[in-house]
Amino acid sequence: MNKENIVEIHNLQKSFDNGKITALNGINLEIKRGEFVSIIGPSGSGKSTLLNMIGALDKADTGSIVVSGNDLIQKKDLSEFRSREIGFIFQLHNLIPNLSVLENVEIPMYEKNMSSSQMRKRALELLEYVGLSDKLKRKPTELSGGERQRVAIARALANEPSIILADEPTGSLDSKTGAMILNRLKDLHEKENVTLIMVTHDMDVASLADRTIRVLDGKIQN
Ligand SMILES: Nc1ncnc2c1ncn2[C@@H]1O[C@H](COP(=O)(O)OP(=O)(O)O)[C@@H](O)[C@H]1O
Ligand SMILES: [Mg+2]
Repeated sequence: MNKENIVEIHNLQKSFDNGKITALNGINLEIKRGEFVSIIGPSGSGKSTLLNMIGALDKADTGSIVVSGNDLIQKKDLSEFRSREIGFIFQLHNLIPNLSVLENVEIPMYEKNMSSSQMRKRALELLEYVGLSDKLKRKPTELSGGERQRVAIARALANEPSIILADEPTGSLDSKTGAMILNRLKDLHEKENVTLIMVTHDMDVASLADRTIRVLDGKIQN
């Protein structure tokens, strides 16, 4: 394990449906702490599966994957790992519909032993950061797509993650709103040294990263 690497993956395999579908077919990948990496590849090539492995949302079959010094194949308490290290931004943002904007951002902090006033304070700061201070009491359905995605960014930052995993974060947005979201993410990477790993199918978006990785048929193309 190279100390500079926040992600080290060797020969990672993942299949679904009792081995009938091979999603990852021998992934080898190293990502340095503070790097901004984009992942591109056709639909069904394994991009989301790879991101889910890094974020410990799902377990690989064989191979090794070490993230921030944690062996994700061996480790038992993955939810603790996730809440300490990972911020996830999904294409469809997965906000909880019956909670307000403010409450959605507070959710990840429940795992962190914070008082409710500390949680409230941090959520307010984050929502100011993404420019939504005037929408605190709204429900997700009362927001535009871009606003929802900004709530998702604030939520992903709530636990001060070392890695942000973004799966097509601009996929459901118009280009202007998408550019605003990307600027916010790039800012985070540049100013806070957060490691940013972003899946996209848009080459222009991918080119914002320090490095672009191509995935095809569950393998990384060199
Ligand atoms: N939970 C699942 N159950 C069964 N098959 C899955 C599941 N998740 C992904 N797959 C399959 O694994 C392959 C890779 O999927 P995915 O990683 O979502 O691709 P991408 O994000 O590049 O479009 C596809 O064939 C997909 O249908
Ligand atoms: Mg996907």
